[in-house]
Amino acid sequence: MKSPITVSVTGGAGQVAYGLLFRLVNGEVFGADQPVSLIIKEVPQFVSKLEGVKMELEDCAFPTLHTVTITDNDEDAFRGANWALLVGAAPRGPGMERKDLLTMNGASFRDQGHAINKTAADDIRIVVVGNPCNTNCLIAMRHAPDVPRDRFSALTRLDQNRAMAQLAQKAGVQVADVTNVAIWGNHSSTQYPDFENARIGGKPAPDVIGDRSWLENTFIETVQKRGAAIIAARGTSSAASAANAVLDHVRSAVNKTKSGDWFSAAISSDGNPYGVPDGLIYGFPCRSDGKGDISLVEGVELTDYAKGKLDITTQELLGERSDVSELL
Ligand code: LMR
Repeated sequence: MKSPITVSVTGGAGQVAYGLLFRLVNGEVFGADQPVSLIIKEVPQFVSKLEGVKMELEDCAFPTLHTVTITDNDEDAFRGANWALLVGAAPRGPGMERKDLLTMNGASFRDQGHAINKTAADDIRIVVVGNPCNTNCLIAMRHAPDVPRDRFSALTRLDQNRAMAQLAQKAGVQVADVTNVAIWGNHSSTQYPDFENARIGGKPAPDVIGDRSWLENTFIETVQKRGAAIIAARGTSSAASAANAVLDHVRSAVNKTKSGDWFSAAISSDGNPYGVPDGLIYGFPCRSDGKGDISLVEGVELTDYAKGKLDITTQELLGERSDVSELL
């Protein structure tokens, strides 16, 4: 066994965390030889529920679970953390856009940024899941000035997974045949799920699907509005699939990306080659060197159609940023 790493998860008593915590420490993400010291954080009114989560984690007897610490304090939550998964945030309900949550959730990401800056390990990597995750990530990043910007990312992997499933179903193939799916921009209803660069069985997705109108309309709208469709059907937002996407995101970061492929994550737009303004957390095609670093893939071709889609989601992110200017 290697020496333990410390992984912090906020929102520990919530539904996403319940789908996430057990798989996070069972060896399937960090490896069967990598012990994990888990710190779980919850707000004071719910922190007592974590006692039950801790008992269940212990009762799984995972050989890779080193210790479990529970807390309601931000500085303790990130003390010595190598990974911080910021899941905790008020979720949206029916009829809301994710950005409607900014006034409720934004300030807590400022406080978590401060705490990460103060107590996390030097190699800390942060994944923001709580919505609106792009702008919450920007807020946290701005308040952790000592942490390199490329350590921050926000979750667009759930959108990637949704897009892969839709393309596979339409093409009548398995999800494993779908590669190179990039989600550009915001984790919101303006995101652009890039079907033009996606590949199915190694071929361009539009050639395989052969129905541009379905791709431009049904496909894009289904992916953009899938979170809302789940809320309408379940009465509450996605939990198991969101947790699964967080695990996929971290797994993609700690494993080397296959040659020629990429995955979706929202990262700092600073210095990007796609004409997106600096100073945003933006969904891009990404790769990993297998050591936890997520970097942007350059040279992906964008048609005028795609550039028009990027403009829309960029405008929304600029608007969100200006709405939270007092938190930046
Ligand atoms: C999702 O995409 O399912 C989550 O971001 C929850 C939501 O509000 O849609």
